[in-house]
Parts: sequence; C-alpha cells; structure tokens
Amino acid sequence: MSEKMHEGLKKELATYEKRTPKSAEAHKRALQRIPLGVASNYRAYDPYPIFVKKGAGSKLWDVDGNEYIDHNLCFGALMAGHCHPAVVKAIEGALHIGTTFGMPHDMEWELAEEICARYPVEMVRFGSSGTEVTMHACRMARAATKRDKILKFEGAYHGLHDTALVSVKPKAGEYGDPNAPTSVPGGMGVPKATIDNVTIAAFNNLASVENRFKQFPGQIAAIILEPILMNVGLCMPQPGFLQGLRDIATKNGALLIYDEVKTGAKLAWGGASEFFGVKPDMICLAKSIGGGAPLGAFGASRAVMDLISQHKVFHGGTYNTNRISMAAGLATFREVLTRDNYTHVGKLSKKLAEGYRKTVAKVGLQAYVVSAGVNGALMLYPQEIRNYRDWTAIDVDLWRHYWFAMVNRGVLAQPYWWDEQWTISVQHTEADIDKHLAVFEEIAPALAQAQQERGVAFVGAAGH
Ligand SMILES: Cc1ncc(COP(=O)(O)O)c(C=O)c1O
Repeated sequence: MSEKMHEGLKKELATYEKRTPKSAEAHKRALQRIPLGVASNYRAYDPYPIFVKKGAGSKLWDVDGNEYIDHNLCFGALMAGHCHPAVVKAIEGALHIGTTFGMPHDMEWELAEEICARYPVEMVRFGSSGTEVTMHACRMARAATKRDKILKFEGAYHGLHDTALVSVKPKAGEYGDPNAPTSVPGGMGVPKATIDNVTIAAFNNLASVENRFKQFPGQIAAIILEPILMNVGLCMPQPGFLQGLRDIATKNGALLIYDEVKTGAKLAWGGASEFFGVKPDMICLAKSIGGGAPLGAFGASRAVMDLISQHKVFHGGTYNTNRISMAAGLATFREVLTRDNYTHVGKLSKKLAEGYRKTVAKVGLQAYVVSAGVNGALMLYPQEIRNYRDWTAIDVDLWRHYWFAMVNRGVLAQPYWWDEQWTISVQHTEADIDKHLAVFEEIAPALAQAQQERGVAFVGAAGH
C-alpha cells in the first residue's frame, strides 16, 4: 500500500481482500499462464480483480459467493442484463441448427433492416467487435476520400487497431499544445507511419479541429469520435460541438464517423443521431447490440458502402454473421431495445442520477454526477469535465475508495477504472437502484471526509 493512500481507502482494500480470497487465489494461478492474469488489460487492477462465477438479470456472483448488483455489465455490453430470456432462447435455438457456416443466411438481411431503421445508414456490414468495426470504418473513409489521415480526439478510445491506439491515455509530459495535441502511441508496436497518419484534436474544442484541417489541407479522410466521450468517465459534447464537427467535415470533404460502440444502443432507441439531432456519415456499433454475444456492425450511405460492392475495399471475416451472434442481435433489437424498455431504463437512470446528486450535496462532496441514456458516472471533480486533460485531475485514490467501498457492500457501481461509467440494464429494477443509492449514501460521508482531509488541491488544476 502506498504511503500516500488515505486511511479510508486502506480500510476498504483490507475488507476487499478479506471478502475475496478465492479471487486472489484464482488470479495468482492465472498469472502463471496469462499476462497480468487476465484476458484484456482493462480487467487487471490492484490488488487483484474479482473472478466471476455467474450472472443472472441485474446481478452477478463472484467465486467467493458474494452477490453484486452489476452496473459494470461487461464494460457496458449488456444493456440486456445477464441471461436475458429472449437472448438465451434465441441463442439456444441457433445452437441446434448450426452455429456458423461461413455462408449467407436470412438473419443478415433481417438485422441489417433493423439497424437501417434506427440509424441514419443505408447499408451495413457485420463483424464481431468494436475494434473490428472502427478499423473498417477508418479504412472505408480513407478509401472514400483517397486520403490517409484520420482525426481523432485526445483521450478517445476506439479499440485496439493501430489507427485507434494513438493518444488514448497520453501522459502529461507528452501532451503538446492543447490546440494541437501531439500524436502519442498507446504502447509499443504501433508503426510510426500510422502515428503520422493520426492527427489529434481536443474534445469540445472546434478551433483545434479547424487547425488540423488547415494544417493538413485535403489530407484528412475522417473525423472519428464518440458523440459522448466515454473514456474519461462521461464527457458530454458542449452545445454546438457536434454540429460544428458536422460542418467542418462537410466543408472539408471528410467523413464524420460516430463510434457508437457504447452510445448506439445505450443512449437512445436511435442512438446519438436521434439524441443529439446531428447525423454522421458512418456509424460503428458493437457491445450492447449483441445482447452479450460478440457482434459489431458498421454502416454508411449506399455510396460509401458500395466501395465494398465494387471490390474497391475489402471486407471479410470467418465469424461474421455467425448464427449465435445474429440470433442474439435480432432478439436484442426486437425484444430488449424496445421503446418500452427505453422508458423503463430512462426512469431508473433519472432516479439513480438524482439520488446520487442529493447525497453528493448532502455530504458536501466536491463532485458532480452526469448521466445520459443508461450510462452515468460520479465525477470526482468539482466542475464539468470538457476534455481528456480536465479528466486527468480526478482524485484517483478517492475514486478507488468509492469503488471498493461500493463493491464491499454488494454494488459494482461501474467497471473498475475511473475513466468508465455505470450501465443500467433492462433487467435492473427500482429495488436495485434503491440499494445502489442506499449504499452510496452509507459511504458518501467517508468520501467527503477523506476528500476534506486530502484537501481538494486538484480544484481548478485542469482548467478549460
Ligand atoms: C467507444 C468504443 N469503441 C470501440 C471499442 C472497442 O470495442 P471492442 O472491445 O469490442 O473491440 C470500445 C470498447 O470499450 C469502445 O468503448
């Protein structure tokens, strides 16, 4: 334990270790064969991650038998909740008629119709992950414009392909000018040529975007963004930002790509285009559209997608449209992501955010609560975060105190990591939200006290 760690956090960590010895053991075993003992770096955290035994509805159980209300929901991939009956039934059905053929079938057209009915695209292709579809979207944009550069935002996450792994979590010493951030590789192995072809702007800063188009005239193929930046907790686009991007892209002949891997299903019935009223040229979907099965899709106008029809852009994949994912996807669109269910989760989302706000105000925590669709977050910072650099001022140990304290009381308030956010599934109930809020109310005074003792030295540190 670090010396700087405050007593409240130390106490919660000690409780965590006492409650989860089997997870500790499982992690130790896994470390022998699997780097970091986990299958994705995001799942590794100190002292060790919770190992899961099973999930059902809004809950999951760990290998020690502890029960949690689950707002991690596989990093937001489970707006359906665990084992949604419609999804289970659809997958079971698919299991008995063949899981994958590598040949076309009718569910492809059916799911394409569902997607084109909700989002402003005319044609789609499918894949299995968010990484895959943002990679293809970037390639399509490069082909459509015959340009190489992609503009992305500092701190934004679009998956693991080379173009996406630039300036995801740059360190302070690497930032560069706030209006022209440096392109920083997100780890070794990203070719320099790729880094040179990814130009970075600051979220909510249209001037930084304009600068890039001036700096690289006729060279930027696309602006890719999450309409709500969800790799820094939850950062809303300021009024006019999305429309500004739309205008800049159009003026410069570049495509606007919405990475809706998170927002597509969880923000609204029609995703970010419906929610904000600003339409992109391309959309990338994954996570919650699959109801828990690996499913991604990218779509655009017929003119753009015809680059595939004309054999100008190559797209393929052995597991594309495997029947398990497609059956799960169809069941999800038809029986989970329904207007009625958006009303249900909308109510829960409002209740959760308002409950948090009440407690934050009551205990005098220097923090704010933000929510959109079924996502939300407690932001341990006194003023609204507008971009990645603002977010880096968050008090990490205080956030860890919050997360472990909630976990120790049976609420997985969100995935581990202070850049994440909670998700509410269609299977969550008022009772789940009541319990979540009761636990937060119980721990909030200790957070406020710890914050006071540590000094809110970070106030205003980031600036805007
Ligand atoms: C916005 C966004 N885009 C892309 C991805 C990558 O998706 P996947 O993990 O399915 O490859 C993620 C994953 O967290 C994401 O949040």
